[in-house]
Amino acid sequence: MNCDCYHIPVMLHECLAGLNVRSDGTYIDLTYGGGGHSREIVKLLGCDGHLFGFDQDLDAMNESMTDDRFTFVRSNFRFVSNWMQYYGVNHVDGILADLGVSSHHLDEAERGFSFRYDAPLDMRMNQRGLQTAQKILSDYSEEQLADIFHTYGELRQSRRIASAIVKKRQVSDIKTTNELSNIVGPLLGKDREKKDMARVFQALRIEVNGEMKVLKEMLDAATRLLRPGGRLVVMTYHSLEDRIVKNHIKNGYSIAPSPTHASSSNEEFLFGRRKEILRDVNRGVTVPTETELAQNPRSRSAKLRIAEKI
Ligand SMILES: C[S@@+](CC[C@H](N)C(=O)[O-])C[C@H]1O[C@@H](n2cnc3c(N)ncnc32)[C@H](O)[C@@H]1O
Repeated sequence: MNCDCYHIPVMLHECLAGLNVRSDGTYIDLTYGGGGHSREIVKLLGCDGHLFGFDQDLDAMNESMTDDRFTFVRSNFRFVSNWMQYYGVNHVDGILADLGVSSHHLDEAERGFSFRYDAPLDMRMNQRGLQTAQKILSDYSEEQLADIFHTYGELRQSRRIASAIVKKRQVSDIKTTNELSNIVGPLLGKDREKKDMARVFQALRIEVNGEMKVLKEMLDAATRLLRPGGRLVVMTYHSLEDRIVKNHIKNGYSIAPSPTHASSSNEEFLFGRRKEILRDVNRGVTVPTETELAQNPRSRSAKLRIAEKI
């Protein structure tokens, strides 16, 4: 599908069904983006229902909808608990997270997320953030760079890529997407060049935005915010993210609780073992249908997991 809109929502119907929206419920969309999911959630709410939409990106805020049943919060979703406390909300009925970048990010050349355009190596989702891709390429050690490309990009050539970057930066700073593509391009197989280049950019983006760390913090906070029967609906686009979500649903937490906490809190622990907290609703993952894949190729790597608070 050709679309010059902000973002085509992925697995929209599956997400709405997963949230099990009640007209008087309180919901959170942690990744508002172009509001594709939020707009449909609000349509299902009556005047007693409410949706909070989070996004750390100024562009998302500027495009956000106006509705009495909706509140936009410009913040990293890792702070969702603090914000809900601020709004006097103790528990919610459902939380949606559609992780990663929007099509808008990839299409806006100057944000530096895509190798399709020549632009400064920025890649911040939050324009107020201090870390940029350019800084990472200039400040990180060769080993750290190799780790990023290996872990977040799953690239076989991670060491060679890191070494080429370090060699180049000894001559001059790497400032633009084109400069990076020119360094990395010759190291990638001709048959997979585009796919692997996308992985190089993805790996840097994940590091710039601290995506894995904030995901774990968010999952723990979101799980605490859900009332019993409330739904956690998470869409991922990367195997590492999906593994974190899968383990979270299995264990009920992502950041291991401290032993002191384990022995002192009888609310969350039973005989020293954590009580079961989440029930896997869709038994594994849901993926886009063939029809959706044909209409929206960007949905290709999406995996949806749905859990219910016990
Ligand atoms: C895949 S898009 C969401 C698209 C949205 N569901 C739609 O249909 O329009 C992800 C959005 O989440 C935002 N985002 C990603 N990580 C975030 C975080 N840690 N905190 C707040 N917003 C985040 C990005 O800025 C982006 O706009």
